[in-house]
Amino acid sequence: MASFRDICFTPNEFASIAQIDKNLISSLETSGALKIIRRRLGSADRKMIPLENMQEYFQNIRSGRHGDQRIQSLQPKHKIQMFYNVKGGTGKSTLTAQYVMKTAMLGLKVLAIDLDGQGHLTVNLDILDAHERPTVYDVLINDLPLSDAIMNVAPCLDLVPANLGLCNIEIPLNNKSRREYRLSEAIAKVADQYDLIVSDTNPAASILNGSMLVAAELVNVVCATNPLSFHGMSLVMATIEDMEREFKHNLEVKIVPNMYDNREVISQEVLGELRSQFSQHCTHAVVNRSADLNEATKRRTTVWDVNSKGIAAQDIKALTHELLFS
Ligand SMILES: Nc1ncnc2c1ncn2[C@@H]1O[C@H](COP(=O)(O)OP(=O)(O)O)[C@@H](O)[C@H]1O
Ligand SMILES: [Mg+2]
Repeated sequence: MASFRDICFTPNEFASIAQIDKNLISSLETSGALKIIRRRLGSADRKMIPLENMQEYFQNIRSGRHGDQRIQSLQPKHKIQMFYNVKGGTGKSTLTAQYVMKTAMLGLKVLAIDLDGQGHLTVNLDILDAHERPTVYDVLINDLPLSDAIMNVAPCLDLVPANLGLCNIEIPLNNKSRREYRLSEAIAKVADQYDLIVSDTNPAASILNGSMLVAAELVNVVCATNPLSFHGMSLVMATIEDMEREFKHNLEVKIVPNMYDNREVISQEVLGELRSQFSQHCTHAVVNRSADLNEATKRRTTVWDVNSKGIAAQDIKALTHELLFS
């Protein structure tokens, strides 16, 4: 089982991610635009593109080095983003993990921040020794520079992990001066080093989440397409509006429908309600309920690694492009 760090892509997978005709790949290799390695699998030599080579390809395109204008200058519209919902189990940690891995695949330099003491984003990114590592607790309460809490997960992907100690942050944070500004000030000091900064949050209307609402430019509210999740949406939107009013901060809000099942009438109804009540916020991309996402969580890797042709890989691709560029 490969971890995300060691993932390799077949030429077909690469062509699908890069949105190019697969027949173009050999000319990309000849011109030096794409470095392809050969790996012996059984008795055959297979062409493979390691993660770092794919990232380099996209970075070169973005910097215009290959004269390809297609995705040049496509920097994320919102650099600091968060996945949010006061309700648990809607898929925040799952989608945050898939989003940061997908954006890192595109060669963007990404910082993921885990703001939930359960550490699910941390585990989803295959970090299993977080209990020994500093977290945002040390940054906000003990004045540790954020850079000292950052660890590397994979090429282009860094993480501020979380562990159970972070569950105890609310009381000491409440007693700090400028409590809601501390996180955005810490993030501002490292922001230059990244193209994208994305946090997962804890399922509560906590001060810690409030601090991230102050820091963020875009909040991605993950709503499961079930009645209780939909019911909770008014509370979520009210929390965001309260923060905007109190901190005079304009946040872009996107609502991401997750766990959609088109065979279930209730799922269709909730999606319809979301789209009519929150029409200007709801993403076009919908994440279907899929065993591949559960499997990716279990294997602590990207859905591409599980099934590059599956619906989950397509959904995460569409969602990523929408959250990055629109
Ligand atoms: N689209 C989906 N299809 C299938 N399972 C999903 C999907 N999204 C999330 N899950 C699963 O749902 C569970 C809860 O997701 P999680 O991301 O931990 O929620 P949250 O962070 O909001 O509490 C996890 O087991 C995850 O694998
Ligand atoms: Mg979570």
